[in-house]
Amino acid sequence: MSERLTFPDNFLWGTATAAHQIEGNNTNSDWWRHEQTSGRVAEPSGDATDSWHLYEVDLDIVQQLGLNSYRFSIEWARIEPAEGQFSTATLMHYRRVLTACHARGLVPVVTLHHFTLPQWVADAGGFESPQIAYWLGRYATTVGAALGDLIGVGCTINEPNIVSVMGYRHGIFPPMVSDSARYVAVHEAMRESHRAMVEGLKSGPGEYPVGLTLSMSEYVALDGAEEKMRKIRLEMEDKYLDAVRGDDFLGVQCYSKSVIAPKGEVFHHDGDVTDMGYPFWPQCVEHTVRRAAATAQVPIIVTENGIAATDDTRRIAYLDEALRGLHRCVRDGIDVRGYYQWSLLDNFEWSLGYAMQFGIVEVDRSTFVRTPKPSALWYGEIAKNNAL
Ligand code: NOJ
Repeated sequence: MSERLTFPDNFLWGTATAAHQIEGNNTNSDWWRHEQTSGRVAEPSGDATDSWHLYEVDLDIVQQLGLNSYRFSIEWARIEPAEGQFSTATLMHYRRVLTACHARGLVPVVTLHHFTLPQWVADAGGFESPQIAYWLGRYATTVGAALGDLIGVGCTINEPNIVSVMGYRHGIFPPMVSDSARYVAVHEAMRESHRAMVEGLKSGPGEYPVGLTLSMSEYVALDGAEEKMRKIRLEMEDKYLDAVRGDDFLGVQCYSKSVIAPKGEVFHHDGDVTDMGYPFWPQCVEHTVRRAAATAQVPIIVTENGIAATDDTRRIAYLDEALRGLHRCVRDGIDVRGYYQWSLLDNFEWSLGYAMQFGIVEVDRSTFVRTPKPSALWYGEIAKNNAL
């Protein structure tokens, strides 16, 4: 019999989602407009999985699987639809979601910014506006005051480095810019905004850890590409790992490895790839958690990890390998507080629409009926046992 791999007491076992990807009809955001007008998105988000209305159904599933936590995001474009005008009704909606988490014994992990901006912010320059840290700080202060007593863990900005690279370097996400100086400046604005948001959340009620969540990767340099790799990783990871020192925790999010050639990142891979085209590389969890903990020197929560796979057995194989690596980190004394599988539901995968299936739960988008996949039950058993 193989050894039982037990995780620390009170380890958080969760699954993650984001507002724009599951709520539906987030019509006031820059992403909604991007979907309608850019021609760069496979299909519009539309009703998504209608989790705006069906959140209790989602939370029942999370509880029944045996998880003890749920990560979701709240939508700035709904909370502050026009500058300085905060919607009490929307904040009350999110209070109901938080209360529903607590009623099911789920620690709610709340992300304030997950890729989308209100249209008024985008129109006023978005992350390039000199006001952005002020606006995000004010938003966080409002959220902290209204919801702080119910928040379990607070995340300021989700993957600020992906918003920067996809929006200002590759020109794929809004605002579809490709300019290296602007790209570097936006990273800086992200770090400044994070600080303002930590302060905003902490000014309110509740005593909960606050951090940001960073997209990380196992970087691999091909021959002669070491310097190139270091340059890319400096902007994508290292400057953030320095900036979060002293925070309550860092959220590590990873999916694969990044292969760097002398000319830049290689996006087409031979061999075993996921539906996203990424190398099948669950080893990235161990690698990034070790690197993040050693550099940032703060507690780590794996706030996202998973795989796009139509074949659910691939998901189990991936998650199993990823969790074994995470356990090696724990065994070596790294302070890891939790793990969140991405994602609870098959949902709106940004530019790629609904074709990518990251969910442990399938959603029929004509009836919104949810059906857990075998990977959901498999993952729930690990959470219940707190062991692999
Ligand atoms: C990172 C993002 O936070 C999330 O929104 C996205 O769906 C997953 N990774 C999968 O690509």
